[in-house]
Amino acid sequence: MDGQLPASVTFRLNGADVTIAPRTGERLSEALRERMAARDVKVGCNAGDCGACTVLVDGAPVCACLMTAQQVEGHAVETVSGLVKDDPVAQALLERFQDHGAAQCGICTPGMMVSAVALLRATPEPDETTVEQALGGVLCRCTGYRKIMDAVMGRPANLYGHGDVGDAIRRLDGAEKITGQEAFGDDVAPPGTLEIRLIRSPHAHADFTLGDIAGFAAATPGVATILTAKDVPGRNLFGVIPDFVDQPVLAETTTRFRGEPVAAVVGTPDAIRSFADGDFPVTWHERSAALTVAEAQTADDLHPHRTGNQMCRGMVTCGDPEKALEAADVTVEGHFTSGFVEHAYIEPEAGYARMVDGRVEILACTQAPIMDRDAVAGILGVSTDAVRILPTGTGGGFGSKLDVSVQPFLAMAAWKTGQPVRMTYGRIESMQSTTKRHPSDIKMKIGATRDGRIAGIEFSGDFNTGAYASWGPTVSARVPIHASGPYRVLNYRAEARGIHTNCVPSGAFRGFGVPQSAIAQESLLDDLAEKLNIDPLEFRIANALENGTPTVCGQVFEQGVGIKTCLTALRPAWESERAAAELFNAQGTDLKRGVGVAGGWYGCGNTSMPNPSTIKAGVTRDGRVMLHQGATDIGQGSTTVITQIFASTLGLPVTGITLVGGDTDVTPDAGKTSASRQTFV
Ligand code: FES
Ligand code: FES
Repeated sequence: MDGQLPASVTFRLNGADVTIAPRTGERLSEALRERMAARDVKVGCNAGDCGACTVLVDGAPVCACLMTAQQVEGHAVETVSGLVKDDPVAQALLERFQDHGAAQCGICTPGMMVSAVALLRATPEPDETTVEQALGGVLCRCTGYRKIMDAVMGRPANLYGHGDVGDAIRRLDGAEKITGQEAFGDDVAPPGTLEIRLIRSPHAHADFTLGDIAGFAAATPGVATILTAKDVPGRNLFGVIPDFVDQPVLAETTTRFRGEPVAAVVGTPDAIRSFADGDFPVTWHERSAALTVAEAQTADDLHPHRTGNQMCRGMVTCGDPEKALEAADVTVEGHFTSGFVEHAYIEPEAGYARMVDGRVEILACTQAPIMDRDAVAGILGVSTDAVRILPTGTGGGFGSKLDVSVQPFLAMAAWKTGQPVRMTYGRIESMQSTTKRHPSDIKMKIGATRDGRIAGIEFSGDFNTGAYASWGPTVSARVPIHASGPYRVLNYRAEARGIHTNCVPSGAFRGFGVPQSAIAQESLLDDLAEKLNIDPLEFRIANALENGTPTVCGQVFEQGVGIKTCLTALRPAWESERAAAELFNAQGTDLKRGVGVAGGWYGCGNTSMPNPSTIKAGVTRDGRVMLHQGATDIGQGSTTVITQIFASTLGLPVTGITLVGGDTDVTPDAGKTSASRQTFV
């Protein structure tokens, strides 16, 4: 062929001969998903890092995003959907993955299954190291790998009961995830759908002017429209906390963080990939940027009425901490800092929108469908009746998918063009534009009496909330409530501030700032115990909250305070582990072992916000029991557990319930999937 690539490519896909005509260099993953409807091949990074796209080529596992479609000419490709149909090894794995609960959100599971099939075909009884090596190329953000390892190795599972509350049963949605049939945000749009590409700021802080947008659109074949701030039909702002709605969908004249969008190009897939960022007509005027809390306090204010870039502050105080610390027999203090943390879900933000009877329908991954609906309605300037959210599968969220991401752009593009549109963030834009864990800068002082009682605490923490508020107010509110840890503290003062910088917004991430404060508080408890020459575990047990003792907020739990019981139960392991470490360290090698203990506490549900948890149920004429359930299951299992709760209450088997949802048209407000809500709250 003289180096010419063939115009068409013929290969075997799951046992059938197929021929496609890919672009030169088209990724195999894209060809399979968009040309062969093989949406069971998932895409997480498009860079060979996550392994979600793993398929077998002539029996060997490969990342389909790293191969071109042309490379499989004449070869055999197998994906998870084909394997579970025809291959007994895959069929056995399908059962074992379900028995072990080895799929949580499920976005990595097709890649895991495919890799495991390749392993077990060659080595039917692998040892643990062999399994680790075989699956090492597939990342799982949810499970911790243990359940997957157990499933692959065929270890006994621990299912019991028939579906009552507390029974350990298979996930109701497990098989769908394991076979790759669950549709995530990027799996629902038909091939060829118009796509959206955002033009983002390359600077942390910049003014900008847009050039000849119409000329650019006219000169770029396939562009359907270009959206700028002027095209936002309603309010060009979004946010999650009513008094802190401050983030523009598209910046108007100034961008406040690197990656903030200024325009959205809507066009055919070919049009979207046809130009470089630098071709787009925008001129940037870079401004000085404040990237740390310290810099922000002397920089120009990013928002009006937020002097010194302070977004908000929270405080809890009780007793007289100053006096208590003065009178304490020992005190310790420390300065602690922590950085941004990325949620790193395997599925990037993705979705699809279409106009149906004058309303916009959005199918996207999310943790908060009702909030998405309300935000989109405000942005479009329409009533919430004009917006329908149909959550897709969500391949991990961990807090960040509480905020809207692709939804406003999808809604505006569908609204303006009248055509279906799709959008999937690349990994880089996902990381640069969506919320992160707040970096913290914490100063803390704790005092204790000689007999090992905490006498008083002073805490102050600054949290880098980035350019916009997101869930920053929640962090400022929650940290002072929790910075005492689960201990009895009578004299206490804690203050937390959210400070704006020119960084990506910080938002919700497991614990809303509480893990950062716990690092400081628990580290200092160790220091105190050492100074007092008291065992660190016993020091915590002596100070632990119990039923009936007030927290620093004066809240008294009459029941259910289990921290003392938990810590006490650790005594045997604490002693044996410390003895083992001491023995090991006495060997005199460079390698040393340490044993630590820490307590933590955290309030489930939303702070100072409603916690709706509503379901709707009914019986059809033909006797089916219907459960309309809108809580999004992002891998934590709420679809199964809520059905168990419902079925147990009615005295029905779980299998006797027909599930409907989520769909904001027919499922009532179940609130957000966050802060351990849904099954506990
Ligand atoms: S390795 Fe291919 S999508 Fe991540
Ligand atoms: S189950 Fe593996 S990433 Fe969610």
